[in-house]
Amino acid sequence: MKKIVLFASGNGSNAENIMVYFDLAKTVSVVGVFTNNSEAKVIERAKKFIVPTFIFNKMELSDDTVLKQLKQLQPDLIVLAGFLLKFPIHIINEFPKKVINIHPALLPNYGGKGMYGLYVHQAVLENKEKETGITIHHVSEHFDEGEFIFQTNVNIESCITAEEIAHKIHELEMEHFPKVIERFLEG
Ligand code: GAR
Repeated sequence: MKKIVLFASGNGSNAENIMVYFDLAKTVSVVGVFTNNSEAKVIERAKKFIVPTFIFNKMELSDDTVLKQLKQLQPDLIVLAGFLLKFPIHIINEFPKKVINIHPALLPNYGGKGMYGLYVHQAVLENKEKETGITIHHVSEHFDEGEFIFQTNVNIESCITAEEIAHKIHELEMEHFPKVIERFLEG
């Protein structure tokens, strides 16, 4: 049984989808949900699955507090699922090739600081892109720049609002993210 931890900053629909998937699949155990937001909906979602939650502030992410908690849990993989803070290099170095992120666009386009959630989809819409997609990638010290693990795209020519694009991206995320994690852990 492989162990994963999830990091999320808000809603947590990806985190919940991953918990549902592995609750049924039994190949992977979600051993913790970490959040920098004490109001985040992801906390309630984790409770439903009896997964322990860890709430931390920016200071605790940059000092050794979060790192120590992670070391106790000994995860095989750290998954950023809607985590909006920069992930610190001292944690990446402790878990080499074991920190991955999902981004709601086809990187290297529409990435970087400030590019999250609806901001991404608004930018995609303004540029009249015919397609967008999701990117699952290794996390490096720079926002959205690690090596790609998986990408898939979707046609958005029929979309007239950023929310409609968000809906299509959400469907891709729900379908692919847990399976990509599972395959990644299988090597
Ligand atoms: C997801 O679409 C995820 O790809 C995106 O935030 C959303 C979180 O939704 N992540 C980023 O934009 C990271 N730059 P969720 O909290 O419902 O899973």
